[in-house]
Amino acid sequence: MRHYLQFKDLSAEEYDYLLGRATLIKKRFKNYEKYTPLFDRTLAMIFEKASTRTRVSFEAGMYQMGGSVVNLTSGDSQLGRAEPIEDSARVISRMVDVVMIRTFEHTKIEAFAAHSRVPVINGLTNEYHPCQILADVFTYIEHRGSIRGKVVAWVGDGNNMANTWLQAADVLGFTLHVSTPSGYEIDAKVAGVSNQACVKVFDNPMDACRGAHLVTTDVWTSMGYEAENEARQKAFADWRVDRDMLAVAQPDVLFMHCLPAHRGEEVDADVIDGPHSVVWDEAENRMHVQKALMEYLLLGRIG
Ligand code: CP
Ligand code: NVA
Repeated sequence: MRHYLQFKDLSAEEYDYLLGRATLIKKRFKNYEKYTPLFDRTLAMIFEKASTRTRVSFEAGMYQMGGSVVNLTSGDSQLGRAEPIEDSARVISRMVDVVMIRTFEHTKIEAFAAHSRVPVINGLTNEYHPCQILADVFTYIEHRGSIRGKVVAWVGDGNNMANTWLQAADVLGFTLHVSTPSGYEIDAKVAGVSNQACVKVFDNPMDACRGAHLVTTDVWTSMGYEAENEARQKAFADWRVDRDMLAVAQPDVLFMHCLPAHRGEEVDADVIDGPHSVVWDEAENRMHVQKALMEYLLLGRIG
């Protein structure tokens, strides 16, 4: 049994396979071809934080594959009334076939996984967001071909997305340019990447974007950090992705944002709504890659 808690839980070779499956699964979906290999299987989703994309993509994806879904939140389950996470894992995993969790500390999802009889998928923790980067890499490849050897520029917070991009750079063989305000750097220990060759750190976000094939950012204040919002607004003021940053990147640079976005904060409207942006494909692709991921975790390799 395999869990998917961090991007580095799968190898480059497994990503090749998985992204190939995602391409096929997406094509079938677009052609209205029924594909229901998860008939009779149940996904439990546990949300301790808000979500639009993760909820809809997992729920719609599971139904499309013939399965069903149970949705739990801290507010409407015993999870919010201090039932130990280990006990919740033991019980829930006796009744369903796969569990997706969105929570705060990564240690919580690790504790759940350690006591689960079924695969556990990370739908975002404070530290990582692997399903999102899976969709982002898939989207890059769809538009531009292989990401190996390319340069991805991360502008903004050294958060869950940034950590996961760094793991992806290490596993898939591209370079991550990172520019964060001081005090918000990526913590290499948390990111868990020892290969320093895959990351280059820049004080100035313009320098990070220079020559990049993909420029990407995220909110300045992630879920769970709302108390820091005012300080962050000040600290991040020079890290808004604008047209000037895209102008120093590759002429065919792509712009991505995991969404939700705040136009005029971390990104200007003419960037996210402009010709380089692929954010809507990126959001849609969450569903296709997660269908491939659930297929892989539950059924192994097909054919
Ligand atoms: N990108 C992402 O995970 O979106 P949601 O918070 O809406 O799920
Ligand atoms: N970094 C953001 C991503 C939201 C999808 C957060 O954790 O809130």
